[in-house]
Amino acid sequence: MVNPTFWRDKKVLITGHTGFKGAWLSLWLQSAGAHVTGYSLAPPTSPNLFEQANVGQGMQSVIGDIRDAEHLKQTMDRYRPGIVFHLAAQALVRRGYQHPVATFDVNVVGTACLLEAVRQAGGVNAVVVVTSDKCYQNTENSVAYKEADVLGGNDPYSSSKACAELVVAAYRSSFGNGSSTQAPEMASVRAGNVIGGGDWAEDRLLPDIMRAIMEGRPVAIRNPHAIRPWQHVLEPLGGYLLLAERLCREGGKFAGAWNFGPFAQDAEPVEAVVRQVVALWGDGASWVLDAGPHPHESKVLKLDCTKAQEHLGWKPCWRLEQALEATVSWYKAYLGGQNLRDVVLEQLASYQSKALSAVR
Ligand SMILES: NC(=O)c1ccc[n+]([C@@H]2O[C@H](COP(=O)([O-])OP(=O)(O)OC[C@H]3O[C@@H](n4cnc5c(N)ncnc54)[C@H](O)[C@@H]3O)[C@@H](O)[C@H]2O)c1
Repeated sequence: MVNPTFWRDKKVLITGHTGFKGAWLSLWLQSAGAHVTGYSLAPPTSPNLFEQANVGQGMQSVIGDIRDAEHLKQTMDRYRPGIVFHLAAQALVRRGYQHPVATFDVNVVGTACLLEAVRQAGGVNAVVVVTSDKCYQNTENSVAYKEADVLGGNDPYSSSKACAELVVAAYRSSFGNGSSTQAPEMASVRAGNVIGGGDWAEDRLLPDIMRAIMEGRPVAIRNPHAIRPWQHVLEPLGGYLLLAERLCREGGKFAGAWNFGPFAQDAEPVEAVVRQVVALWGDGASWVLDAGPHPHESKVLKLDCTKAQEHLGWKPCWRLEQALEATVSWYKAYLGGQNLRDVVLEQLASYQSKALSAVR
């Protein structure tokens, strides 16, 4: 359970607030009464959730590059955050193949720039760096990865996220709490394949499905048998918030790496997800196989979240079916011209009430 009392009046910096996950996290923190500052490039897609849900209305939004050390420093000095969530990244596997150097630059050097800005600014209690489930060396053997498993990555995006993990580990051991009483606690977080309303990214399953359905085309599917740990965006975000709170309250025992994945049964093949979405949408939606050729993507990816469950008291809340229902209903609300900020906040309230009933 995320504790709204803790977040009230907290000063929080989110990098990547104009992206899909950053926009949801910004709205969650705004609704909990935090003073939120975002630092990011402009929204990466058009349309985008940041504008559709008027996310900038309840926060300070700074547009800047994560590698611009001076601008980042000015932002830190001006807004003095106590807690930092780092989400800014080149977040797409296929774009990583097209722009490998830029992907390493933003994801690895960008992470170092952020941690250095935090170090120089002082006053930050906790930093949560978002990497990915793809940071593990993928053995394709269907075993769910644990936090201590070997890092790797067969493509530039995955490898850049493994490298970002190493940057966090080096900053933690060199400049983290323990090196001085003023230094922040640092954690890295590895979530699964996140779905939810307002994702408009290229080459991601749910946005691809939604675009095709809304344009009246059959959905073209590249890797129907690939297994991924699907989860609603609110699941890992709830984990990041809980982790940041524990880092602030209880310190170093929560520093380190954490997986936030779905229920084990919700690591499903792409085809199963497509079938469910097509059925939920109705209205004659359909899908076809896109035979390729396509760049390599791993066949199976699963996360073991025992550490978060046992040590943090976090567990997933919505099953895949509920996550897909919420996602489809968001895109239907978009087509129906509804107020999308209200839709996000209603879904957040519904998620929190389910999470509350699960702990009672
Ligand atoms: N969506 C997923 O399924 C998923 C899964 C695992 C991990 N992640 C990670 O979560 C984070 C957020 O992902 P998302 O889905 O919201 O991605 P997104 O592409 O929607 O958003 C990325 C954000 O980073 C910003 N950004 C990109 N380059 C930047 C730069 N040079 N300087 C400053 N800002 C820059 C963009 O403007 C945007 O705000 C990323 O680190 C991503 O790798 C996402």
